[in-house]
Amino acid sequence: MQANFPFTAWPDISPPPAFLSLLAEVFPGVQCRVSLLPLVSDGPPSAVAPADFLRPDELRQWQSFASNKRKREWLGGRLCAYNCARWLIAARKKTSGNNYESVIARNETTKKSTTMPDTGVEKDHRFFRSVCNDVAVKECFSARDWWLAADENGRPFWQGNLPEALSGMDISLSHGGAYALAIIATRRVGADVEACRTKVQRVAAQFCHLAEEERLARLIPQQDRLARLTLLWSAKESLRKAATGLPGFLAMRLTDGSHIGDGWRLVLTWGATGRQSTVATTLHDGHAFAFCFLEE
Ligand SMILES: CC(C)(COP(=O)(O)OP(=O)(O)OC[C@H]1O[C@@H](n2cnc3c(N)ncnc32)[C@H](O)[C@@H]1OP(=O)(O)O)[C@@H](O)C(=O)NCCC(=O)NCCS
Repeated sequence: MQANFPFTAWPDISPPPAFLSLLAEVFPGVQCRVSLLPLVSDGPPSAVAPADFLRPDELRQWQSFASNKRKREWLGGRLCAYNCARWLIAARKKTSGNNYESVIARNETTKKSTTMPDTGVEKDHRFFRSVCNDVAVKECFSARDWWLAADENGRPFWQGNLPEALSGMDISLSHGGAYALAIIATRRVGADVEACRTKVQRVAAQFCHLAEEERLARLIPQQDRLARLTLLWSAKESLRKAATGLPGFLAMRLTDGSHIGDGWRLVLTWGATGRQSTVATTLHDGHAFAFCFLEE
């Protein structure tokens, strides 16, 4: 069975623009692509059928999960990951000599809105929509000989005969509360989403030193304790995923930070050599989000 990839049917799963400006401010120069998918508790993660974007082996793995929650989250993560991948592939085509206007003209299937002015952003969306329908990009998914694998610790990585746009790119996935997300980046990356739930306050001592709580309160005075602790938890999860060997929560310490735009830049110190890593964190819809790019 070959997967058929109906790009036009895909939902728009771009993150809020504030996420992207936060990432650009905290990590200038790092190229990345993020997808964020709202998950409904008792339905499929989107209108796109799993067989439309999963390879047969992936489909079998998905079907083997006993729990519906696990099925929904695993699938949501893959949908986000492959959505990031298709945008990167399309972006590569854009910069590799394709004529912007002619690609749109050749592939445009949806009518251009007569009420929307053709701003740069709209033009960019039209380009990506149309280039994703381009035969070469479609074929790249329908006979995909590359896929998302996991190492012995569960860390995801791209495997197979990768399209140029994905070579050297790292990936991280997360699902929590009402969201699944993926990020692909030119640097080693970890991402996390956590719903703000009261339990985090009961288990605070398991992941947060007293001195960190005090620092958090000074850094993020505008949020309550529940939001602050969830931000720290999520930040540490993102660093654990970026780092090798999943460092322990109490082995990472919040040592610095600042308020940036709609989020916070948190600095965590960890490891035997006191390595410092930066995490971009933000709150959205009752969830904490964190993205960590490891230094080279
Ligand atoms: C892995 C871990 C960091 C995931 O965090 P979480 O907040 O529970 O879950 P999230 O939804 O945010 O993230 C799940 C995703 O993280 C990724 N992931 C799993 N293991 C990972 C690792 N070692 N490093 C980076 N990412 C990892 C996977 O893509 C996973 O999604 P998927 O299973 O659908 O592919 C956490 O569960 C953990 O510490 N587990 C310990 C596992 C362990 O010790 N394994 C040893 C080998 S068996």
